[in-house]
Amino acid sequence: MNRDAPPPIRRLDATEAASLAPALAEVLVDCVAGGASVSFMHPLDPARSLAFWQGVAAGVARGDRALFVAEEAGTVLGTVQLLLAMPENQPHRAEIAKMLVRRTARGRGLGTALMRAAEGLARDLGRSLLVLDTAEGGEGERLYRRLGWTALGTIPRFALHPDGRPCGSTFFYRDLAA
Ligand SMILES: CC(C)(COP(=O)(O)OP(=O)(O)OC[C@H]1O[C@@H](n2cnc3c(N)ncnc32)[C@H](O)[C@@H]1OP(=O)(O)O)[C@@H](O)C(=O)NCCC(=O)NCCS
Repeated sequence: MNRDAPPPIRRLDATEAASLAPALAEVLVDCVAGGASVSFMHPLDPARSLAFWQGVAAGVARGDRALFVAEEAGTVLGTVQLLLAMPENQPHRAEIAKMLVRRTARGRGLGTALMRAAEGLARDLGRSLLVLDTAEGGEGERLYRRLGWTALGTIPRFALHPDGRPCGSTFFYRDLAA
């Protein structure tokens, strides 16, 4: 297990999000190739991955979401998003999405550091309730349980793994006001 300290986490503005879209696209292709159930099937076409991140950058520009990256020596190693565009009767809520760390950079605390950054921004923005879902029994579920999130339960066959096998999804929440 790699014991280097995780690199700093940075929140991107819309211009930076657009310029790092190609690098973020590579991280997503790497994670999907590694079996991560994160909305895409394997093999993920790099052009489709790029288009996805260009859409994310547009969402950052609209203020719908916040985008964080972990970078080292100019390489994007990990990312997470905080989804902020909630219905008007849920101004206190936000969602965690696309928590991704390159396979070669795992086990160094990047996932933990990315989650801490997203939770910190949620607190600063007065979003006291966070929710997410993740592949049943995966590294994400381990991470969120270790970080003290509350698991609500699992919906079987909620999605597919990148190789086509059915994948249950475990739903979590965190009450930052508790
Ligand atoms: C889930 C994911 C983001 C975790 O990222 P990560 O950077 O490896 O997470 P961390 O390094 O913080 O924690 C992973 C493990 O490394 C350990 N670790 C963290 N820092 C460490 C360090 N400096 N030294 C030794 N071990 C360390 C943690 O204790 C943890 O151990 P555990 O698995 O036994 O609980 C990553 O596995 C991933 O991208 N998976 C594919 C995509 C995915 O499924 N994302 C979730 C979607 S909701």
